[in-house]
Amino acid sequence: MLHYKKIAIVLSLIAFMVVGMAATKPLDEKPKRNLKVLPKDISHEDLDKVMGGFKAALGVKCNFCHVASKDSSSHHLDFASDEKPEKDIARHMMRMTAKINKKYFSFNKDDKGNTIPAVSCITCHRGDPHPEVK
Ligand code: HEC
Ligand code: HEC
Repeated sequence: MLHYKKIAIVLSLIAFMVVGMAATKPLDEKPKRNLKVLPKDISHEDLDKVMGGFKAALGVKCNFCHVASKDSSSHHLDFASDEKPEKDIARHMMRMTAKINKKYFSFNKDDKGNTIPAVSCITCHRGDPHPEVK
């Protein structure tokens, strides 16, 4: 009798572990994107274009805004991390640029009626991360 009880306890413990593992597994497998300004479903290709544009407009490398990975065996950048303040400033700049275009350049439309952005990062930055008056 005692023996059966033990087996039942062990089995229910195993069941708990399996349920617990199933519940946490999808989180490790699919890292969530940390996008607060760009559309969450942006394609990999479009994201690359936007980031390449930032790089060229400011005349910097990706690591100007993105911090190095904590994993020392990796020489990659941790793109999802918000640790570098430049990344959040860039978000402010994205919102500002969108606002300027919407508010002051909405007359600027193509044949299909889509607003053509008149101002972009390069308008002010021109290859310089610090375009302020010197
Ligand atoms: C001027 C700053 C800046 C530069 C330079 C820059 N990025 Fe970014 N990057 C950002 C910001 C800001 C976001 C988050 C956008 C948002 O919140 O919508 C981002 C997001 C990303 C993401 C998505 C991360 C996630 O959450 O999954 C990837 C990937 C990425 N950048 C790659 C690059 C690469 C590759 C380069 C170099 C070619 C680059 N970035 C250069 C500012 C920058
Ligand atoms: C209307 C002009 C203007 C536009 C458009 C603009 N910026 Fe800026 N940006 C500035 C100025 C001016 C500064 C410097 C502010 C200061 O530090 O005094 C700056 C600073 C920055 C910085 C901080 C640099 C540092 O070393 O701290 C980042 C990052 C940045 N801009 C990214 C962007 C990105 C990305 C875009 C396009 C989405 C953009 N900016 C569009 C004017 C602009």
